[in-house]
Amino acid sequence: MEAHFPTAFFEGKKVHLGVCGSIAAYKALELLRALCRANLRVTVTLTEAAARFVSPLSFQSLGAERVFTSMFAPAGAAPQDSPLSSPFGHLAPGAEADAFVIAPASATTLARLACGLADDLLAAQALAWSGSLLLAPAMNPRMWNNAATRENCATLARREHIILRPEQGRVACGEEGEGKLPDLRLIYLHCLKALSPGDLSGKKVMLTLGPTREPWDAVRFWSNHSSGRMGAALAVCAWLRGAEVYALCGPVAPWLPPRINRLDVITAADMLFQAEKLWPDMDMGIFTAAVADFAPEPFGDKKFKKSGQEAFSISFFPNPDILCKLGRVKKPGQLIVGFAAESERLEENARHKLDSKNADLMVANLIGVPGSGFSGTCNTALILDRKGRRESLPTMPKSDLAWRILDWLSTL
Ligand code: C5P
Repeated sequence: MEAHFPTAFFEGKKVHLGVCGSIAAYKALELLRALCRANLRVTVTLTEAAARFVSPLSFQSLGAERVFTSMFAPAGAAPQDSPLSSPFGHLAPGAEADAFVIAPASATTLARLACGLADDLLAAQALAWSGSLLLAPAMNPRMWNNAATRENCATLARREHIILRPEQGRVACGEEGEGKLPDLRLIYLHCLKALSPGDLSGKKVMLTLGPTREPWDAVRFWSNHSSGRMGAALAVCAWLRGAEVYALCGPVAPWLPPRINRLDVITAADMLFQAEKLWPDMDMGIFTAAVADFAPEPFGDKKFKKSGQEAFSISFFPNPDILCKLGRVKKPGQLIVGFAAESERLEENARHKLDSKNADLMVANLIGVPGSGFSGTCNTALILDRKGRRESLPTMPKSDLAWRILDWLSTL
C-alpha cells in the first residue's frame, strides 16, 4: 500500500483499531503499519475470533502501543498479569482516541454495534466512544446481503457512523460477490479524514494534475515527465479537510480515492474544455498540471514511416494557458493557486507569474534540486501570495507541502 500522506499535522494523534474475526484480519497488520509510518499512535483490540486468525504479538511487533484481547484478566491471575492497567482501563481507547476504526468489521460486530451491545471488549469500547466509528466490513457476500446486515448498516449509517462498502470479487471461501475488505488505501485515508479539521467543508475545489499528451501521428505523442503527485496530494488533502473535489487528471496521474470526482483527460484542449465547464461553480482552482505549452502540428491518423527519412522537422503551435484563461474570468471570492517551476531567478519569475496570471498564490520551485520537484515525492518550495507575503519552505514530502498550501489559502 502506498501510504503517501505522512503529513506533520497527524503526528502523535491517537487511533484505536478494532479487528474482527475474518480471514481479512491479516490485512489489518498492513493498515497498522501505514498508520504507524504516518507517526500516529495506535492501540488495537482484537475480538476473540480475530486473535485466532492473527496473533496479538504481530500487532505489538508492528508498532501498536497496546493490544487488548479480552475484557477480563485470566481467572486467578495477579493484577500485574492483567493486560489492563486499571479495572476500567479497557474503555480507555474509546474515551481517549482521536479516531476509532474497525477493519475488518464482521457481521456479528456490526450487529452488536447496531444493538448497542457491550458483550465483548471491542463492542464495549465502541459503545464508550462518542464520535463516528469508521467501519470497513469484510464477510461472505450472502452475509453482507442478508436483510439483517443491511438493516444493521442502515441503523449505523443513520447514527453517522461511516461504513465503507466492501469490494466486489472472489472472497476467501471461493464465492463471488460484494464482501471483500475495502481497499486499504481507502481505509487509511478515511482514518486521516476522521482526524482532519474539516475547515474546507462546503467548498468546491478544482485541480488540474499530471502531464497532458499531445498526439502527433497514430502512435506518437508529445508530453513530459510530470507524475501528478503534487496535484494528487493537494486533491487528497482538500478532500480530507472536507472539500468537494474535482480532479482533472492528465494521463498517468496517480490513484485517487473514489469520493474525489475524477475526470481523465488527454490533451491541453480537453483539460481546458472540462476546466471551463467547472470553474464558474468553484471556490478554488489549483493548477498543478504540467500542461504541454506546445502541441505538434498533427501528422494525421497514419503512422509516420521512418523509411527514406533522415532528419525532419515538426511544427508546433501554442496550447491554451488554462490558468491564465480562468484567471481572467475569476469572480470575487474565487481563489487561484498556480505553480511555477523555474530554472533561474525563482522569486522574480514566480512573482511575475502570480501577477500576470491573476493568481492568489504561487508555489515556486527551482528545477534541478536533487530529490525535489517534477517527478519525485518531495518538493522544496517558495510560496508567494498576492498580498506580497512569502515563505521559503525546506524540502518536504509533497503531502506535507499540500497541507501547508491549503493552510496558506485559508489566510487569503
Ligand atoms: O507559465 P507556466 O507554464 O510556467 O505556468 C505554470 C502554471 O500555469 C502552472 O500552475 C500550470 O498548471 C499552469 N498552466 C496552465 N496551462 C498551460 C500552462 C501552464 O494551466 N498551458
